[in-house]
Amino acid sequence: MDRSAFTCAVMTVSDKGSRGERADTSGPQLQHQLAAAHFRIVDYTIVPDQPELIRETIVKWVDEEKIDLIITTGGTGVSPSDRTPEATRGVIDYEIPGIGEAMRMASFAITPSAILSRGLGGVRKESLIINLPGSERAARENLAVVLPALPHALEKIKGGTKDCVAAS
Ligand code: MTE
Repeated sequence: MDRSAFTCAVMTVSDKGSRGERADTSGPQLQHQLAAAHFRIVDYTIVPDQPELIRETIVKWVDEEKIDLIITTGGTGVSPSDRTPEATRGVIDYEIPGIGEAMRMASFAITPSAILSRGLGGVRKESLIINLPGSERAARENLAVVLPALPHALEKIKGGTKDCVAAS
């Protein structure tokens, strides 16, 4: 499968980032990582930790722009304002539990704090949405865990009939 066929958008969720009080290094890092894996970056935005804005952005990117892959970074933890997983859960058709499970399992081998990220992966229509933690390092490490499975996941979400055994 030609991965350049898949479009991707990155949403940084951060109160300070959205106010310009903190430079967003995670968003650019993720775009670099995704582009290196041949995804086509078509949008990038920073939103505050407001569930309504997170939901609105996902719905717009999926329903209007038909973006294949939506990556969020930030707001997955246990601070009072961290509500990215709840916002995402509110607009997906179904969750893919293995995405969150794999990220936490692999990340726990790196840092015990990995269990604090509640990020999930899920599908809305024919788009895949994945929550990553907010720090540049955490975002990079977590994306690296799921990245190899994404082209096949997107192909299946869109109704592809390629044999799973042959997928890499
Ligand atoms: N996962 C990896 N691989 N590496 C990390 O450094 N940081 C953790 C966790 N997951 C981390 C990680 C920390 S410290 C937190 S608080 C949670 O992600 C949630 O981060 P968030 O609230 O910025 O989304």
